[in-house]
Amino acid sequence: MSARRESVLREMGLTPLWRQRSRASACAQNELAECSVAREEDCAGSGILVETTAFTPEPRVLEPALVAQATPSACPSIGTDARVARIAGAQWEELEREIRACTACRLCEQRRQAVPGVGDRQGPWMLVGEAPGSEEDRRGEPFVGQAGKLLDAMLAAIGLVRGEGVYIANTVKCRPPLNRTPAADEIAACLPFLERQIRLIQPRILIALGRPAAETLLGMEVRINAARGKEFSYDQIPVVVTYHPAYLLRNPADKCKAWEDLCRARRLMARRD
Ligand code: URA
Ligand code: SF4
Repeated sequence: MSARRESVLREMGLTPLWRQRSRASACAQNELAECSVAREEDCAGSGILVETTAFTPEPRVLEPALVAQATPSACPSIGTDARVARIAGAQWEELEREIRACTACRLCEQRRQAVPGVGDRQGPWMLVGEAPGSEEDRRGEPFVGQAGKLLDAMLAAIGLVRGEGVYIANTVKCRPPLNRTPAADEIAACLPFLERQIRLIQPRILIALGRPAAETLLGMEVRINAARGKEFSYDQIPVVVTYHPAYLLRNPADKCKAWEDLCRARRLMARRD
């Protein structure tokens, strides 16, 4: 293996996978071949894509019974016009207070705390994930678990640092039990918060991490594979759709595609400078 190939492998976070799991190696190498071409053409010298050690995926248990849950919430529903209007006019402090105290959907029942978002409130970049996981629920900050480590490495790959010009939020602010995908009514109940965050930040680009974020921002059904590389916007802000880092932990061969998406986002930003 050439030194260059090895260094690209290392940068793409594929080396340990390649060494540890022989069955995955052919696949990883094939993916890498495409990645390294894209890298040379598009994003030479962009930096490190992923750190090389964190490959244990967070367990993601989908509970059909919970996904389909339609029982009324023990939390009082306050999905009123007054609530929506209040959120739409809130400044940061009030908005975060409102999120932390929110009981508008059943996700309030099992959370330890709501997770409003973190980062540069004037940031030109805004990333939208799905929902807090257990670590986020414990610490009150988005993307601080395994997926967060990968997200930080993805940001570093395009020269970004969490909190510097970047704001990170989730589609829903409270952890769904067992990390299930948030239900449509929960996303709808939480949407005024995300909308207000976007309006306050006025980012120059939105990155939708995974399907719930993409579908929420675009207001349509989305398949990530099909939507990648396509032009979308939210309120005239360009939206780049890419894989969720937790998906990438389970499917590391797709990391290079996520990296291409981020390179595309960076090019879009450069064009608008
Ligand atoms: N996954 C998300 O979508 N958001 C987080 O904050 C953590 C994991
Ligand atoms: Fe409120 Fe959103 Fe939490 Fe539901 S997920 S309780 S709408 S903050």
